[in-house]
Amino acid sequence: MRALIAILPGDGIGPEVTHQAMRILTSIAERFGHTFEFREAPIGGAAIDRTGRALPDQTLALCRRADAVLLGAVGGPAWSDPDAKVRPEQGLLQLRRALGLFANLRPVRVHPALAERSPLRTERLVGVDILFVRELAGGIYFGGRPRVQVDATTQAAADLCTYNNHEIERVVRVAATLARRRSSRLVSVDKANVLETSRLWRSVTSSLLAREFPDITLEHVLVDAFAMHLLHSPSAFDVVVTENMFGDILTDEAAALAGSIGVLPSASLAGTPQADRQEFGLYEPIHGSAPDLAGRDAANPIGAILSAAMMLRYSLGLEREAEAVERAVEQAIGDGVRTADMAGPFEPVTGTEGAGAAIANALETAFEQRIAEGVA
Ligand code: IPM
Ligand code: MN
Repeated sequence: MRALIAILPGDGIGPEVTHQAMRILTSIAERFGHTFEFREAPIGGAAIDRTGRALPDQTLALCRRADAVLLGAVGGPAWSDPDAKVRPEQGLLQLRRALGLFANLRPVRVHPALAERSPLRTERLVGVDILFVRELAGGIYFGGRPRVQVDATTQAAADLCTYNNHEIERVVRVAATLARRRSSRLVSVDKANVLETSRLWRSVTSSLLAREFPDITLEHVLVDAFAMHLLHSPSAFDVVVTENMFGDILTDEAAALAGSIGVLPSASLAGTPQADRQEFGLYEPIHGSAPDLAGRDAANPIGAILSAAMMLRYSLGLEREAEAVERAVEQAIGDGVRTADMAGPFEPVTGTEGAGAAIANALETAFEQRIAEGVA
């Protein structure tokens, strides 16, 4: 197949990790006979420096033409002055909104070899395999943010959280559809004991499930309790759906289960993924721009590489290829490949480049084996 892939490296370690993901996509293309055209464009701080804007029109235009978008990370100390008018994060938020990406899939699995790196006892991590579905285009991220000078000595600010029933339904439908392909259990996280948006969320979710997904077992959990259950019994959860900000916070917490946030991918979609239809999407590791690691060959490329695997699956319809990448990552971790964030006290550390090379090698070896077995 032919695909145009927009590459938005962004800031900090973004360029290094997207580079490794492109390397893996390139070997997939060669081995499986596809043509991937990569086009790069600036976003975030890099775009502010070049154009004065966090999401230049040309970057958005490229994304609209592309079959899928791969993004590194945005942000950094150079642009984080609280009084700044333009901020790198605005570029990412505008992009998500402009492309209608309302469903953010964040799978959290624990590779057994990394369980030791988690602050939790390893026996609690056995069998952890959670799929978070975070609402991405609404809520407090996109409400009004007034800041007013009330009187000579008082300044006040507000952030408005709004949701309507359509916004809730479409993301819950994605989560319930995915739950159907897994254990048919869905947990919806809210704060319905306090927030009106959560009460709407809860009733819309219950009636949607009763109407369209009577086969799915739905449970509502309050966000504070969920934050605790996630540490006590992470293997109890399968698919979890929640609003934008709760999803942001809980998925960073969940990253601690995986041993390092550096290994976790995400997919942001504008519709419900179907086995027989390709869905436009934006793919990015869930980690940030980690400015302290930038340019030192110290970043973990696995989150970006697994995001590329999700792109193969959801936007390009290439399931076999996606699984090949995921297996190569597992193989490399199993073989002891560790960037600094993944390494235990006595484990040798690999750089970004070396980790990408090890995964590319694992991919090649698997391919040679399949050819030898006559199944490629
Ligand atoms: C994420 C990030 C972003 C978010 C920031 C960079 C705007 O933390 O993707 O989780 O809060 O959504
Ligand atoms: Mn986040």
